[in-house]
Amino acid sequence: MCGIVGYTGPKEAYPIVITGLKRLEYRGYDSTGVALLNGGLKVYKKKGRVAELEDAIVGKNLHSHTGIGHTRWATHGEPSDVNAHPHTSASGKLAMIHNGIIENYAQLKKELTNKGYTFSSETDTEVLLNFIEDIKENNKCDLEEAVRVALKRVTGAYVILLLDEENPDTIIAARKGSPLVIGVGKGEHFLGSDASPMLEYTKEVVYVNDYELAIVKPNELILKNLGNEKITPFVTKLDMELAAIEKGGYDHFMLKEIVEQPSTIHDCLRGRLDANAGTITMSGIQDNIEHFKKANRIIMVACGTSWHAALLAEYIIEELCRIPVEVEYASEFRYRNPIINKGDIIVAISQSGETADTLVAIERAKENGAIIFGVVNVVGSSIARISDGGAYTHAGPEIGVASTKAFTGQLAVLTMMALKIAKEKGTISNDRYKNLLLELEAVPEKVSAILKNAEDLKKIALKYKGASDALFLGRGYNFPIALEGALKLKEISYIHAEGYPAAEMKHGPIALVDENLPVVFIATKDSYHEKIVSNIQEIKARKGKVIAIITEGDDVIPGMADDVFYVPAADEIIAPILSTIPMQLLSYYVGIAKGVDVDKPRNLAKSVTVE
Ligand code: G6P
Repeated sequence: MCGIVGYTGPKEAYPIVITGLKRLEYRGYDSTGVALLNGGLKVYKKKGRVAELEDAIVGKNLHSHTGIGHTRWATHGEPSDVNAHPHTSASGKLAMIHNGIIENYAQLKKELTNKGYTFSSETDTEVLLNFIEDIKENNKCDLEEAVRVALKRVTGAYVILLLDEENPDTIIAARKGSPLVIGVGKGEHFLGSDASPMLEYTKEVVYVNDYELAIVKPNELILKNLGNEKITPFVTKLDMELAAIEKGGYDHFMLKEIVEQPSTIHDCLRGRLDANAGTITMSGIQDNIEHFKKANRIIMVACGTSWHAALLAEYIIEELCRIPVEVEYASEFRYRNPIINKGDIIVAISQSGETADTLVAIERAKENGAIIFGVVNVVGSSIARISDGGAYTHAGPEIGVASTKAFTGQLAVLTMMALKIAKEKGTISNDRYKNLLLELEAVPEKVSAILKNAEDLKKIALKYKGASDALFLGRGYNFPIALEGALKLKEISYIHAEGYPAAEMKHGPIALVDENLPVVFIATKDSYHEKIVSNIQEIKARKGKVIAIITEGDDVIPGMADDVFYVPAADEIIAPILSTIPMQLLSYYVGIAKGVDVDKPRNLAKSVTVE
């Protein structure tokens, strides 16, 4: 979490930094700040969003060719003007922004306090900055050396960018655990938590690795390790256009991203799935096919929505490939002492590719000899780079904090993976394989058909927007979608919602059912259909309000549900991708009706780079 931006070069720094911050606001929006070098150091910062800072500093002299900016997701210290970044050092000569957590900051703070330092904020960042300055003064060294020495003492995760009044065209940057991209222009450099702040200026970027330090000047980029040895920057070409990160006429990124799904799923399948030829081409799987065929177990690690994709993949892979699958919350997996045997494959699923828990979980597993396979959306992200093999979801940049198109992309990739492995292993019949390929190929068109009926979900949303709680129930392949539906509603409408396996609801949640409780059933036609019909009856018998997502042609459930929404018929393995769309739209419309900023719901951040 937190977004960082930097610029040094001939252009005006402020407009680049402020525009970059707006693009990175998905990473946190508790406060905003910029530091500019122009003769001396100028710092402007404020609690609240980027636009609020922009308004507050209209008319100030913002002229500068070197600047840094920060948008914060608060960890240490409440969101406030004083806790906002950039922080300035005791001398007032250094300014620093930080994304991450300095875990041993209390110890460092104690040492500095004993030396007479005082702190104006509650942040770990101000402590690290003064620690760096203290080393600089005591060791009579330059800032670069002081940063290197300081970072050897630091535990935790960070990307830091520093400005020094004495070197007005230089930004010093360092990374461990949080993402840092440097854009290489002609006589200028850009820095960002991702590449979005630099898209219109350059397509050439360097992804900085852990324990690397960058000395960034307009005409020079020097990368070093913490041992002061130079590293040749590896320049990568970005494959992303500015339009991909703009709203393109939609009111919200979330809606744009929901509506984009026919094409993002198509992009995900394109070049991989050929139903006519009966082939799936996924080089990441092919390169590791012997491992997958022989795998004793697949362990999936993920967080949030990506965890729900993992859960559905468990059902599909066990069914089609007959490989045991375990699904782990990355935050739990990394701290316990999991048993990883030879022949186990870890599949990490992540939209951002930067989620701290997922990243560290796979780092640990890798140290123990596991093979890591990444299912990631952001190209070049940390998880993608650390994985031994992988498959991108190709959903394009996802800006809305609540994940939508990345989730359906994950489901499409994981289903293709399962089909490919099953085919290679011989655990699927030719007919079933061919049929599922055709079914998968038809998904984009069916998603388009669902989107055409979005207004029906709007009406349902308006009817239930006043609810204080909601239950989401599904069985089998639709159970993970019930979890996802509940998470979406919670995230963007602030309605308390729980997802449950429909039968399990009798063991507790049924106590909540009364005439005020909306219960969303994902009840498409599958092998559990009769069972879920009984569960609907159980809710109706207790006067609960039933909203059912059902298959076109279902003539049983409409007679018992209060509201229904139809999705096209599909194989039960493929149907969850379709059932996801009404979950997203329902939450979106409830969120809008309640006046929630659905792209940036309170307290959340899109890329959780702290544990
Ligand atoms: C945050 C986001 C979720 C996302 C989760 C995992 O909580 O708000 O939308 O599912 O992180 O993120 P990842 O990037 O690893 O998929």
